[in-house]
Amino acid sequence: MKTTPPLSIAVLGSGKGSNFQAILDAIRAGRLNVRVACVLSDVSDALILERARQAGSPAEFVDASPFKTKLDGAGEQRVLDRLRRHGTDVVVLAGFMRMLKQGLLTTFAGRIVNIHPSLLPAFPGMESWKQALDYGAKVTGCTVHFVDAGMDTGPIILQKTVPILESDTPESLHHRIQEQEHLAFPEALQLIAEGRVRLEGRHTRIRP
Ligand code: GRF
Repeated sequence: MKTTPPLSIAVLGSGKGSNFQAILDAIRAGRLNVRVACVLSDVSDALILERARQAGSPAEFVDASPFKTKLDGAGEQRVLDRLRRHGTDVVVLAGFMRMLKQGLLTTFAGRIVNIHPSLLPAFPGMESWKQALDYGAKVTGCTVHFVDAGMDTGPIILQKTVPILESDTPESLHHRIQEQEHLAFPEALQLIAEGRVRLEGRHTRIRP
């Protein structure tokens, strides 16, 4: 019987890695057929690296300088080298706090995925849950999307909604959004792993 090898994902993160943990849990539960090729972080003591080590995945700090808020120049080259070395099909941004630039966007065109804590195109950028609350929105959520050169602008793969309650604080709202992120990210990656996501310009089509 012919079996297809699982998709190899490289996960890039700068923080606590709760979305990476959700991906690991989904793999273990048999809900997500991907292989974690490596976890890379631009923050040497990020919890995401520790989670990866505990799970037995290659985990590496990468010096992302010379820039602070974007991945460009020598730092981008160092990341690209590692992605090649580990054999990466899809790059998964799980709380990676830098804008990607041309080198990565071209090499992995249509193969970079991000999760964002709002219903894009509403509230791009930082602390989107706070933006939604301050605006007085009644519903927010999370979005899994392909990455392009813009800030949180790429084609949307999947979204989940979260109602905003009268009693919400930024913290309580962020917590409920993250619960939905932990469902949405593995689901979206499984759609990609099954070859069910097709890119048509700015839109994606999901095959049933
Ligand atoms: C998530 O809320 C995600 O939407 C944003 O960064 C956060 C990462 O959280 N892009 P974690 O490190 O996965 O816990």
